Amino acid sequence: MQKIVIEGGRPLKGEVEISGSKNSALPILFASLLGNTSVSLKNIPHLRDIDTTLRLLEKLGAKIKKGFRFSSLEVSANGLRHLEAPYDLVRTMRASVLVMGPLLAKYERARVSLPGGCAIGARPINLHLKAFEQMGAKISIEGGYVEAKAKHLQGARINFETVTVTGTENVMMAATLAKGETVLENAAREPEVIDLANFLNKMGAKVYGAGTDTIIIDGVDELKGAEHTVIPDRIEMGTFMMAAALTGGSVLIKNADLTFLEALRVKLEETGAKISQNTQGLRIEGPKTLKAIDIITAPFPGFATDFQAQFMAMMAVAHGTSVITETIFENRFMHAQELVRMGADIKIEGKTAVVKGVKKLSGAPVMASDLRASAALILAGLVAEGLTEVHRIYHIDRGYENIEKKFRKLGARIKRAKVKY
Ligand code: EPU
Repeated sequence: MQKIVIEGGRPLKGEVEISGSKNSALPILFASLLGNTSVSLKNIPHLRDIDTTLRLLEKLGAKIKKGFRFSSLEVSANGLRHLEAPYDLVRTMRASVLVMGPLLAKYERARVSLPGGCAIGARPINLHLKAFEQMGAKISIEGGYVEAKAKHLQGARINFETVTVTGTENVMMAATLAKGETVLENAAREPEVIDLANFLNKMGAKVYGAGTDTIIIDGVDELKGAEHTVIPDRIEMGTFMMAAALTGGSVLIKNADLTFLEALRVKLEETGAKISQNTQGLRIEGPKTLKAIDIITAPFPGFATDFQAQFMAMMAVAHGTSVITETIFENRFMHAQELVRMGADIKIEGKTAVVKGVKKLSGAPVMASDLRASAALILAGLVAEGLTEVHRIYHIDRGYENIEKKFRKLGARIKRAKVKY
């Protein structure tokens, strides 16, 4: 087991480069199952969730060639015979359910272990399954597995009762090879949905309207291989923006722009941070003292739930009281009690956290509960007095590439160490 050890108190200074987007790369890797010829992908981040996905694709029978420094990949996945996502893989990564849409569309059946609850909420997949049923699939649940079968998926009008990112992606992938037109209403508008649609269209799909709440897909007979470069990770960009603001530093985020970060920009500027964009990237300068402000999470283009934990770390040392409302996941405040261990003053009432800013945090051993919570604890460690040890960092390796190296390059005193018992 490993931990991350941080000695706080240094403003971040310098430049950082952002890796490819995890939440784009995952659906795109699953979408590569739809092609009859091989797919070539670039800017794939080096992360545990990507390894899990590649393991799953290989288990299904896909052939994967890793290119230079791993960030480019070639996936050949025609004629698969083994159409099952086993429990062992799904339980370590819920996004494995994204295998269902492509398998059902191309091979007319899929067997996928039903994901259980997770640290941030119940996270059911009922809306994915309901949509597949509307497209003509027969769904049954047996022995912890979802079995889906469909002779040839039919286009349908699907109105998602809740905005769901992977639900939109799963059904969008399925609809590319369905008979006729599928209309997705109340679709997720996240940039990762747009990136997936662009990739599918390069493969020969007919997907229109991605990025709006209505996506129309005209089914085609087959898809072919394509080349695609995954977009940079906007959640990683935002995490470094918040880290720069929190430490009162000055950071240039090189391959970044504000296109998909408007909600965060507005809130960061309200806290007193200065943000500017030029041809080199985004520059963030933190104020001497952050001002406490309120946030409410919402689907894109609203304030992302994936930024909530890191923002709470900022508010923990801001001047004043901040009210943070989480509307997407019912249990995404696990980091709050860990921040309290570092001296933060946070009270949780249902969907709301009331954070009274304190003058300083003090370093402590803390436990990461999920990916973004681990980032929040690292951010808190960067400003805390003394040593912070973040445990269970396997969560962070799921979604941030070389995080401690990137922070070290910005001047932070941070290292990875073995946990000794
Ligand atoms: N929901 C249902 N039924 C469904 C699907 C979703 O009730 O069938 C509910 C969920 O329980 C939740 C809400 O709808 O309350 C929204 O969940 P969504 O389906 O949008 O989440 P997701 O697709 O499972 C993706 C990201 C998450 C990110 C959320 C919200 C990927 C692989 N994951 O999850 O990313 O927090 O959207 O933006 O794209 C992360 O990267 O750390 C992460 C958790």
